Amino acid sequence: MNLNKNFYMGIEIGTTGVKIVLVDDQAKTHFTGWMEFQTLTPKPLWVEQHPQDWWKATILSIQKLLLDHSIEPVRIKSIGLTGQMHGLVLLNESGTVIRPCILWNDQRSKEICLKIRKDIGDERIIQLTGNRLFPGFAMPKLKWIQENEPENYEKIYRFVLPKDYIRYCLSGDIYTDVTDASGTCLYDVKNRKWSRLMLKELSISPNILPDVVESTVAISKVNHEASLVTGLLEGTPIIAGCGSQEALAVSSGIFNEGEVGINIGTSGVVFTVTDSFKQVPNATLQNFCYVTKKKWHYMGVSLSAGGAFRWYRDQFGEIEEIAATRLQKDTYELLTDCAKNAPAGSEGLLFLPYLAGERSPHDNPMAKGVFFGFSLRHRRMHFVRAVMEGIAYSIKDSLEVMKRENIPVNDIRISGGAMKSSLWRQMFADILDHEIQIVRETEGAAYGVALIAGLGVKAFTKEDPVFDSLNTVQSSIMPSDNSEFYQKEYLRYKSLYSSLKGEFEKIN
Ligand code: XUL
Repeated sequence: MNLNKNFYMGIEIGTTGVKIVLVDDQAKTHFTGWMEFQTLTPKPLWVEQHPQDWWKATILSIQKLLLDHSIEPVRIKSIGLTGQMHGLVLLNESGTVIRPCILWNDQRSKEICLKIRKDIGDERIIQLTGNRLFPGFAMPKLKWIQENEPENYEKIYRFVLPKDYIRYCLSGDIYTDVTDASGTCLYDVKNRKWSRLMLKELSISPNILPDVVESTVAISKVNHEASLVTGLLEGTPIIAGCGSQEALAVSSGIFNEGEVGINIGTSGVVFTVTDSFKQVPNATLQNFCYVTKKKWHYMGVSLSAGGAFRWYRDQFGEIEEIAATRLQKDTYELLTDCAKNAPAGSEGLLFLPYLAGERSPHDNPMAKGVFFGFSLRHRRMHFVRAVMEGIAYSIKDSLEVMKRENIPVNDIRISGGAMKSSLWRQMFADILDHEIQIVRETEGAAYGVALIAGLGVKAFTKEDPVFDSLNTVQSSIMPSDNSEFYQKEYLRYKSLYSSLKGEFEKIN
C-alpha cells in the first residue's frame, strides 16, 4: 500500500493531545493520528502536563499510524515538530524531566511578572525582547522555579519548549527554533538571538538555554533508541519546526503583509506577518520571528476562545451531550443549534471570556469570566449565543489594535473547529465587520508543520502552488445586516470590561 509515495510527517504537541499528519509530495494529507493526554490543575491558576505523557502518546500514535496503514518507515522522508508554545520543560544533565511542564495558560507567575516589570521597566523589556512580559511566557516561570523550587532550579541543565522535548526524545538533540524562542521573553526577536542583556538583568545563566535555529533547518535525525520504540527509520531528518501558531499560519497560507489569520483553538489568535521588525507601541501585540527567514509576525492572543466554549459545554451542556449521544451528533453542533434561536446580541446578555485571565489587549492575568445583563426572560439559547459572541468580541479587540497601528488588514482567513458552525462564521463576519475567508479544512498546525518538514528537505519550495493562499480558502462570507448592530454591542462589551477591571483584582 502506498509503496511508492514519499511522506512528510508533522507532529503537533497540542494543549489537549498529540496529532500526527502525513502529507505527500503534493502536500496532500493522507493519514492522521490523534491521542489525548491529561492536563493537571493542582492549584487555581496552575496548569501543568507531564512531558513524558506527550512522548508516550507520540510513540503510540506513530506506531499505530505506521501499522494501521502499512506504511514503510523508509517512505517517511522528514519530520517536522510543532506544539503548544511557551511551556517550560526542564531537563537535568542526564536528560530527565525535572518537574511537570508549566503551560502557556498558567498564571502562577503573575506577581513575579509585576516585580520584574517594576525592576527592569516595561520599556526596557520591550526594547530588549520585542515583547511585553506575560505570565504565560517561559522566563517568568523559570524565575518562579528559582524562587519557589530552588532544589529543582539547581538541577537544570537546559530548558526547552514542548515540541523540543519531543525532538530530544527522537534524537537526543537539544534545540529550539526562532519562533518558540521568541515566546520566552529572553530572546532578542529583532536580531534573532538570545538577549545577553536580558539574561544579565535577570541573573539567568546562558548555559541553560538551548541553541536556536531557523524553523526550516534539518537539524537532527531520528536516533537508534527512538527508531526502536516508534518504528521510524533511524536517520530520518527532523526539521526544527515552530510554535503552533506559526504552523497554523502556514496551514492558512499566511505569508504576506495584509494577510490576517484568525484561529479559534483553545486560545484565539489574530496573526499577521511583517517584512521587517517594527515595534507596536507598548507591545500590545506579541511580536515574534516567523518561519520564513527575515520575516516576523504580530499576534494578538485571547487566552480562552474555544477553551471558553469547551468550559460552557462541560458545565452546562449536559442535555446536549445526552442528546448528541442518542442522535450520534456532536455536542457543539447541538449547542450552536440552540444558540440560533436567540437573536443577535442575545437580548442584552454579554459574556466576557476571560476564564484564564487575558493577554491581548488587556494584559490582565486577574481578569475573569462574566455573564452580564440577564433577566427572567433569558434562556439557555441566550447564554450559548452570548458565549459565542463574547469570544468573537475578544478577537475583534486584537484586530482593532492592528487597525489602530496601521498594520495592513486585507484578507482575513479563519480556521479552527469553531468554523464548522455556520452561525459562528456569520457572527465573525458581522462582529469583525469584514469579509472572512474560511480556511479549507486541513489538519491545522500538524498539517502546517508537515509542510515545513517537506520544505526542510526541499520536497517542495515556497513557490509551489500548495503555498498559494488561494488554495487554502474554501469559501468566504460577507457581513450581514446584523453587523451595524453588533458594532454597538461591541462598545458595550468593551465598556463592561473597563467597568469591572477593578473588581477582578478583588477575586483571588
Ligand atoms: C500563543 C499562545 C497560545 C499557545 C497555544 O502565544 O500562548 O496560542 O500557543 O498553543
